[in-house]
Amino acid sequence: MTQVADTAGTGILRALRERRSFAQVAPEEPPRELIRQVIEACTWAPNHHRTEPWRFVVLTGLAREEMGDFLAGIRRSQLEDPDGDEGRKVVEKERAKPLRAPVLIVVAAVPTGHPKAIEIEEIQAVAAGVENMLIAAEALGLHAMWRTGKPAYDDAVKRYLGLPSGSHIVAFVSLGYPVLPRVPRRRQDISHLITWRDGRES
Ligand SMILES: Cc1cc2nc3c(=O)[nH]c(=O)nc-3n(C[C@H](O)[C@H](O)[C@H](O)COP(=O)(O)O)c2cc1C
Repeated sequence: MTQVADTAGTGILRALRERRSFAQVAPEEPPRELIRQVIEACTWAPNHHRTEPWRFVVLTGLAREEMGDFLAGIRRSQLEDPDGDEGRKVVEKERAKPLRAPVLIVVAAVPTGHPKAIEIEEIQAVAAGVENMLIAAEALGLHAMWRTGKPAYDDAVKRYLGLPSGSHIVAFVSLGYPVLPRVPRRRQDISHLITWRDGRES
């Protein structure tokens, strides 16, 4: 018999459909308790061998500016002409990135030393957790956006954040209160993405 979804179940499906990535949030910093709830949602994700491979670095206030300076320094060192007009723009853009929201949560998969752990599965578990965070943020009246970019894959950034060697930054989650009404998302129709096989194909 088909089970009819309860109200909570319907709410979850609506949150999945209505979640959206958008950059603009209010400058006001959400209280730590709300940030903790968003982080806790990550830790309810499935994880093989129960390794719980997620770790979080929460940057707020001046720590975001320090991170911006650090990222700007890296970007500067990569440019041929960092002091030219174009170079300066690129460096300043990098510096501003951690300031796009009042809270920046770095979500990483760290090696847990579990003998059966498979690295890609550890990353997958954390990615599942990041989606939980985005949905939890919606449920709490916040907005969270998943970003990566080159700094996510830079060992110097991982060291700066105090992440152990062998860690993977899975997401920079920016978090704040939404300011804009969200525009509905578009997705392609799923029909052509699915192959149904029930053993009766001729
Ligand atoms: C692994 C991953 C990395 C992402 N990195 C970025 C990013 O660096 N910058 C960005 O603007 N969006 C980033 N996004 C968000 C996607 O751009 C966004 O999910 C996509 O445009 C679909 O929009 P929606 O989330 O509103 O459905 C990332 C998403 C994922 C899953």
